[in-house]
Amino acid sequence: MAQDNLFHQPALADEVADLMREVVPGVIIDATFGGGGHSRRLIAEFGADVEIIAIDRDPEAVANAVALGITAVQGNFGDLARIVAPLIEGPPSGILFDFGVSSRQLDTPKRGFSYHREGPLDMRMGPDARLTAAEIVNEWPIPDLAGVLRRYGEEPMADRIAAAIAAARPIETTSQLSTVIAEAMPAARRRAGHPARRVFQALRIAVNDELTAVTAGLDQAIQLLQSGGRVVAISYHSLEDRIVKTRFAAGATGCVCPPGLPVCGCGRAAELRLLTRKPIRARSEEVAANRRARSAKLRAAEKVAA
Ligand SMILES: C[S@@+](CC[C@H](N)C(=O)[O-])C[C@H]1O[C@@H](n2cnc3c(N)ncnc32)[C@H](O)[C@@H]1O
Repeated sequence: MAQDNLFHQPALADEVADLMREVVPGVIIDATFGGGGHSRRLIAEFGADVEIIAIDRDPEAVANAVALGITAVQGNFGDLARIVAPLIEGPPSGILFDFGVSSRQLDTPKRGFSYHREGPLDMRMGPDARLTAAEIVNEWPIPDLAGVLRRYGEEPMADRIAAAIAAARPIETTSQLSTVIAEAMPAARRRAGHPARRVFQALRIAVNDELTAVTAGLDQAIQLLQSGGRVVAISYHSLEDRIVKTRFAAGATGCVCPPGLPVCGCGRAAELRLLTRKPIRARSEEVAANRRARSAKLRAAEKVAA
């Protein structure tokens, strides 16, 4: 099956296939189908032994899956359980999350995701998003805007940038916003990476309420999986990775009674076995061929029998 690398080149595809090998034959939910790079890799490797169910917020990604004859649903993986309920007869054996945006989304100017391309301040991954970036940029009070930049962009100059944005309203395009941000920065910051990177990340996360979906999607994935099933999650920034790491660690924690108690009083049992103590990173050859892979961190866990 040909790779549609123009749409999106998947990160850590070999590692995903290796981790899913143990759960094949079975049903694997690709909760972030995008260009289908990971699913295509799984199908190429496992053939008819794997049945893929695809989910994406973006109608274009869903159309990709349908064109490949894959069962696909447009929706938010924050509603994973509800979305897959009518599609599966039993619990799935694998669930994959490859968070964030696809290269196609970033590279399409009218989607407004990129500070490198002139476009409207949109940034919605799909029609279910209730906000646009323009609403946050032009309508939110300065303290709320600064809060988003601090929380989701980890932007140290959030207050200063929020004030500069408010002073420049209305801001209509990605390049106008980018210029306002750059001009609000001291020269030293302008030399250290693109000055708009953190702000664009923050707006995108807020528009799509991404971290709420990551938290809910992981919880539901762990609930849904069959015992012995595997969940694999690829993150691209520390906010996502922290949620995955914390959720997996909590799931892998068993009895918390003080040592020496004759019988367990807490009744707590681990629901997960960690498959990655440290996140898996892309090898240097992969990073050389796919720059996006440099920030990818993969964590995986296996559901243990209840
Ligand atoms: C990094 S891309 C996935 C690329 C894909 N693995 C591939 O190989 O082509 C992330 C995709 O997840 C989708 N997405 C992000 N958050 C989502 C959510 N909460 N629910 C459903 N899809 C989401 C985006 O629309 C995007 O298509």
